Amino acid sequence: MSNKPAKGDRAQWASSLGFILAAAGSAVGLGNIWKFPGKAYEGGGGVYILTYILIVILIGATAMIAELTVGRATQKNAVGAFRVLAPRWKWVGGLGVFTGFVILGYYTQVGGWVLQYITAYLVRPEEVYGDPQRFFLNQVLGADRFPLAGAFLFPLLFIACVVLVIVHGVEGGIERFNKLAMPALFLLLLVLLGRSVTLPGADAGLRYLLSFDFSALNGSVLLSALGQAFYSLSLGMGIMCTYGSYVKRTENLGKNTAMICSLDTLVALIAAFIVIPAVFATGVEPGKGASFAFVSLAGVFERMPLGSFFGVIFYTLLFFAALTSAISLLEGTVAYLTEEKGLPRTRATVLTAAGMFCIGVLYTLSQVHFNIRGVWLDGASGLSFPAFGDFLEYLTDRLMTPLGALAYCVFVGWVWGPKQAVAEIEQEGVRFPLAKPWAVLVKYVVPAAIVVILFAGMVMGLTLS
Ligand code: PHE
Repeated sequence: MSNKPAKGDRAQWASSLGFILAAAGSAVGLGNIWKFPGKAYEGGGGVYILTYILIVILIGATAMIAELTVGRATQKNAVGAFRVLAPRWKWVGGLGVFTGFVILGYYTQVGGWVLQYITAYLVRPEEVYGDPQRFFLNQVLGADRFPLAGAFLFPLLFIACVVLVIVHGVEGGIERFNKLAMPALFLLLLVLLGRSVTLPGADAGLRYLLSFDFSALNGSVLLSALGQAFYSLSLGMGIMCTYGSYVKRTENLGKNTAMICSLDTLVALIAAFIVIPAVFATGVEPGKGASFAFVSLAGVFERMPLGSFFGVIFYTLLFFAALTSAISLLEGTVAYLTEEKGLPRTRATVLTAAGMFCIGVLYTLSQVHFNIRGVWLDGASGLSFPAFGDFLEYLTDRLMTPLGALAYCVFVGWVWGPKQAVAEIEQEGVRFPLAKPWAVLVKYVVPAAIVVILFAGMVMGLTLS
């Protein structure tokens, strides 16, 4: 095709669909399938979902347009973009690259656990069903042995897949892979949705998800939804800036943002409509966090006809979702190292993957060391994640991501200016009819909302999990 970049030119997405799927691939991840259903359940079902959708439309989409536009205007990685526009803001790019690097550390570990579960459901599901919690503790986290599989072998396999895609470049690797993986992901989602909602007793879960009890809405739910939206849309760490830098000038960034946000939200909703009705139908106690996807769901698959088969499908879905997000996380750092530090692409990829793998291993190891003796083996039911893993997640999801998103919006709203941004969007005949409301949102509403999350999360200690 003629729209391949000439040799020496900067990489570009070959097609509009390719870009939308790659960006949606970044957005759709563990956040949608692993975190969202549990949050929707705890946040009161329909009320949480409605609030989340409003936040995505008003706040998430606004911030995404800002980040994509900075990338496309500069045609640079997250750090390079600020070097060109306003060098004093380079730290925002640096913060993003660092955050992405750290998130990729634990993402790879969880991606590895997912692969381990695919294998387990394929070859010996009875072992998972026998005692789902023990299986997770011993086989994955290594409570009673060195966690060679859970912390090393499977995560290595996972990161090897990510590296393989990244070394093939933006169009030949990332775009091509997402064009296959994203349709596959949707297909798996639909299969699981069909299975879940037709289970006898699933209607109670459906009713819960469609119930609008507005008294369930409070500050903490609102803040949790806000934090979830930023994380789920991959905002605040320059990933969308980097992906935006590969977008052609003829592309309509406003429309593309609408597509990406819709796909991401749709997947989160479908995931909730898979998980919650199944949990209600099988009478399993929904746990929190890691235990939800890895421990509680074992009870669901055990009680469901053809459960192990659907178990394999579910974890394959989670694998694709995690992989396409991990790819974007690695690309963020690789783009920085190749463009700013002049490293060859393959070397940058392998070095970054190796570095973050070392941090990530500590994530799994810390679960064993602190958690098991402290919480799980004492028989307490609250499966929380203290220690290093918790610290990492807190640092990235609740602090650095919102801080990054805030910085992008303040930068675009007050330093670079919405006028410049709109001029960047409106090229080659593209119109952005929402330019005025967008400028108000990016200047005032979004920064104010983020300051509230940060403040509430840190000072008031509201739980934003
Ligand atoms: N959006 C991803 C998810 O929902 C997480 C992610 C954050 C990926 C930031 C890339 C960058 O799981």
